[in-house]
Amino acid sequence: LSGGELQRFIIAMVYVQRADIYMFDEPSSYLDVKQRLKAAQAIRNLVQHDNYIICVEHDLSILDYLSDFICCLYGMPGAYGVVTMPSGVKEGINIFLAGFIPSENMRFRTTELTFKVSQDKKDDEEEKKEGIVKRANYQYPGMTKTLGPFKLTVNPGSFSNSEILVMLGENGTGKSTLIHILAGILKPDDEDTEMPKLSISIKPQKIAPKFTESVRSLLDIKLGTKWNSPLFKTEVLKPLDVESLLDNNVQTLSGGELQRVAITLALGKPCDIYLIDEPSAYLDSEQRIIAAKVLKRWIMNTKRSAFIVEHDFIMASYLADKVIVFDGTPAKETSCTTPEGLVSGMNRFLEMLEITFRRDPTNFRPRINKMNSQKDQEQKASGCYFLVDEAQIEKIGKERAAKKAKAKAEKEARKLGGGVIKDETDDATSKEETKEEVSKEDESSRDGQNDSDDEDQEPEEDHKEEANEEDDGQEDSDDSEGFV
Ligand SMILES: Nc1ncnc2c1ncn2[C@@H]1O[C@H](COP(=O)(O)OP(=O)(O)OP(=O)(O)O)[C@@H](O)[C@H]1O
Ligand SMILES: [Mg+2]
Repeated sequence: LSGGELQRFIIAMVYVQRADIYMFDEPSSYLDVKQRLKAAQAIRNLVQHDNYIICVEHDLSILDYLSDFICCLYGMPGAYGVVTMPSGVKEGINIFLAGFIPSENMRFRTTELTFKVSQDKKDDEEEKKEGIVKRANYQYPGMTKTLGPFKLTVNPGSFSNSEILVMLGENGTGKSTLIHILAGILKPDDEDTEMPKLSISIKPQKIAPKFTESVRSLLDIKLGTKWNSPLFKTEVLKPLDVESLLDNNVQTLSGGELQRVAITLALGKPCDIYLIDEPSAYLDSEQRIIAAKVLKRWIMNTKRSAFIVEHDFIMASYLADKVIVFDGTPAKETSCTTPEGLVSGMNRFLEMLEITFRRDPTNFRPRINKMNSQKDQEQKASGCYFLVDEAQIEKIGKERAAKKAKAKAEKEARKLGGGVIKDETDDATSKEETKEEVSKEDESSRDGQNDSDDEDQEPEEDHKEEANEEDDGQEDSDDSEGFV
């Protein structure tokens, strides 16, 4: 079974038990975005008046979607931990991100965690216009790979250095298979297919170490003296907190510790391309953000390319310069697209899943819009499944309005030429335009203010009323309700 297939099977095993308390420890690990949502819904369906569910979850966008109450755990890993009192979902996530508990006036982290998507990434056209010299360009060919009943068709693609390509797709669509082909571990069906001759460093999805000595010896054997360089220490070892694990036996490491060592090993190996399969699995939310930053900085600074498989949407959108989308029937017949830009790739992927994401204005955290909420419908209508920033929806709105205005002007011109015929669509258009304008106003009036949790609004709620409402600056407290 693939990683995600195994995870779903195990969730189902727990689901069919009869119990007073159900516990799920990281149910979303290895699941794709769609499966994460399904797992979250399934877990919620287990809740009855006489039972409850405890869930450990590191994917913040899923946590947002899944829970009624949140307890944050903080402290010193390996020494002590403190569990906060339960709080509402949004409050809990904000406490965690801010590293500060207002009710206790207690700070447990010196820095705040925020998420900025690489919005400043210029697309190829812009780069050309500005005369930025394109870097080395690598190609990989179109190919197919058959594994028993499974067939993957790979569309050819190209990539350059200092570029991260994130692979997105449901479980069992062949992401690890493509990683293995690129790594030369698997051969395409046509064994004569010419693959780019580049050196690779791989972090596999499944990490099962056979090594029985300390982490220090493992690094010595695999990386020689390289891991002792000051640059590697400050950029990788320190932030990933591998230094504290050096004397531990590899066999006794926890899942997250093992993952951090595996990332270190992959980054430490000199290569042209990094192939990193699910780096966030088993990492906690804080470590995920740190790991994403380490990966991005290291890959950019060393001017290498990377293919990264990532299901944590926050990490994926932070890391990606380009996106490869896997589509088709999982475990049967699938294909993957040629690499494309972050926004269009994410849009394509989320449109397939019928999910829209928006950004939390307080800490830029991507949040899943509740199905059929006003935001969800608005974003779907404008084709903005992946909302990088408010300006983007405004830009698309403007383009649509301009298109409509042009069409209207043409219609007017036709009418003037061919007699006056009352066209009902005119009214509809102008109504829609007003709505769009209100929507824009609404977007900009929110910027920088408290999130009024607009996705909770019922779809039929009056848009204008909402736009005219003064933001009362109060935090929304009913996050726990209105789950899809
Ligand atoms: N050696 C094999 N023989 C037969 N089927 C295989 C083999 N290896 C993988 N598969 C199947 O091929 C499909 C794709 O597997 P792969 O591991 O590439 O998926 P994936 O996209 O990485 O999934 P996940 O997100 O769950 O890791 C799966 O259905 C898997 O069961
Ligand atoms: Mg995989």
